[in-house]
Amino acid sequence: MIYKESAAPWWKRGVIYQIYPRSFQDSDGDGIGDLAGIESRLDHLSLLGVDAIWLSPVFPSPMADFGYDVADYCDIEPLFGDLEDFDRLLAAIHQRGMKLLLDYVPNHSSDRHPWFVESRSSRDSPKRDWYIWRDPAPNGGPPNNWISDFGGSSWEWDEPTRQYYLHAFLKEQPDLNWRNPDLRAAMMDVLRFWLDRGVDGFRIDVLWHIVKAADLPDNPVNPDWRKGQTERDRLIQLHSTDQPEAHAISADFRALADQYGSGPDSQRVLIGEIFLPNERHAHWYGTPERPQVHLPFNFQLIESRWDPVELRRVIAEYEASLPAFAWPNWVLGSHDAPRIAARIGEAQARVAAMLLLTLRGTPTIYQGDEIGIGQVDIPADRIRDPQDLRQPGIGIGRDRARTPMPWNAAPFAGFSTTEPWLPLNPDWPSRNVALQAEDRGSILSLYRDLLKLRRSSGALTLGAFLLADADKDILAYERRQDDERLLIVLNFGTRERVLIVPADARIDSVLASTLPLRDMDGRVLPNEGLIIRLRDAV
Ligand code: NOJ
Ligand code: MG
Repeated sequence: MIYKESAAPWWKRGVIYQIYPRSFQDSDGDGIGDLAGIESRLDHLSLLGVDAIWLSPVFPSPMADFGYDVADYCDIEPLFGDLEDFDRLLAAIHQRGMKLLLDYVPNHSSDRHPWFVESRSSRDSPKRDWYIWRDPAPNGGPPNNWISDFGGSSWEWDEPTRQYYLHAFLKEQPDLNWRNPDLRAAMMDVLRFWLDRGVDGFRIDVLWHIVKAADLPDNPVNPDWRKGQTERDRLIQLHSTDQPEAHAISADFRALADQYGSGPDSQRVLIGEIFLPNERHAHWYGTPERPQVHLPFNFQLIESRWDPVELRRVIAEYEASLPAFAWPNWVLGSHDAPRIAARIGEAQARVAAMLLLTLRGTPTIYQGDEIGIGQVDIPADRIRDPQDLRQPGIGIGRDRARTPMPWNAAPFAGFSTTEPWLPLNPDWPSRNVALQAEDRGSILSLYRDLLKLRRSSGALTLGAFLLADADKDILAYERRQDDERLLIVLNFGTRERVLIVPADARIDSVLASTLPLRDMDGRVLPNEGLIIRLRDAV
């Protein structure tokens, strides 16, 4: 489907940048990033050319899961600042023409949230039913076989009231009961609180988890589970996720967001964190009459093998699964996944940047990927990720993607004036923002160039997507809008290949390369990605 540029809302045209607040910029010398720090680094994001910032949670939190355990949905964690700092940051972002998305965590709160403190105080508490409490199974054990995403039973015994409560993640993250109308109303008020303050939308944490099958039946055993996989994967999360009632709630979120803005520049956007196969994933868009989230996050670039044949299939199947009115999106990295440059090396991370920024749909860039941060080995005594600490040795640690941004050659890379909460990338003296900004050949310069090109091109932002023929090791496709026709050619290999130009076209010019620009001579160099302007052959 081709949208007219003028009518397309900002979240279709734009590029999102994820900030992990603990690791962006520290302003007060405690080794942990904060809101004032983020404000002081907005130049970097303007120069990069992104349109919206998504902040991982900044709400009061005991930090058992580094902010994804929220103790108050309507305030700011003191480590990060206060509501005044927040308002200042929001104004500064808006002043630069950018948007701000917050991270809404509806599946669970912290066990220190006053709601849970009250809920656990007595079986008769008016808030008892705001969480999911059950009697033990007849044998005294947990009410069902569900396994926490972080390992171990999903149920925690509460001795004083002699019942179990459910937690899909840590026991410090009790699941909220979205079947309770009062809880639901209170959580809708949370959205209103931030929308009224002027935020431009939300990324919604584990949206497909928020409602469980009413009678909490056992989940089926996964016959394909093998040692070395996470404990969570021993079961298929059939009854604990993706329930029909959750779709109704997601539509309610959308109806609320839509009340806050309808114009192309004023719409408030909802992004749902959802891991499901295409067919079920697509349901989270809802229908044109009753839409749900604008963008159900698509993590397939993270989950797929880095292989052109595989990715060609993944892209085609994802595109084909989308309802006609749905807008695609692509994510290359996050605070939960290994870094792209650690997975495939810097030469291919450049190709990946070109892929991310030229596919059809809204891209999300994860902080630090724009400078190609790669493997960071975290010494055992510095591991902080609770998932890694609970299931050591299977390579699922998330700290390696959460290390601080290296800004310049100052001590601690300009991130802080003291040792940061996680180690810096070991190559920070040569891999930092200041150095790469000066270097026309750096990956940062490539990101800036690609974002600029994207912004100036209707074909790249909103145009049609067509897979193209290509030599071995190469993924090629066209983006088209009106008479603008671009060919993207990505060499995933380390061999020189032949450039195949569509039979009905000629090369007009080369607009971008992951390598130094050169004249086209029929070759695609090893690790080369190209954006080529085509003309129709006459
Ligand atoms: C997904 C978040 O991205 C992750 O960091 C967190 O641990 C879980 N949800 C639980 O909130
Ligand atoms: Mg700080």
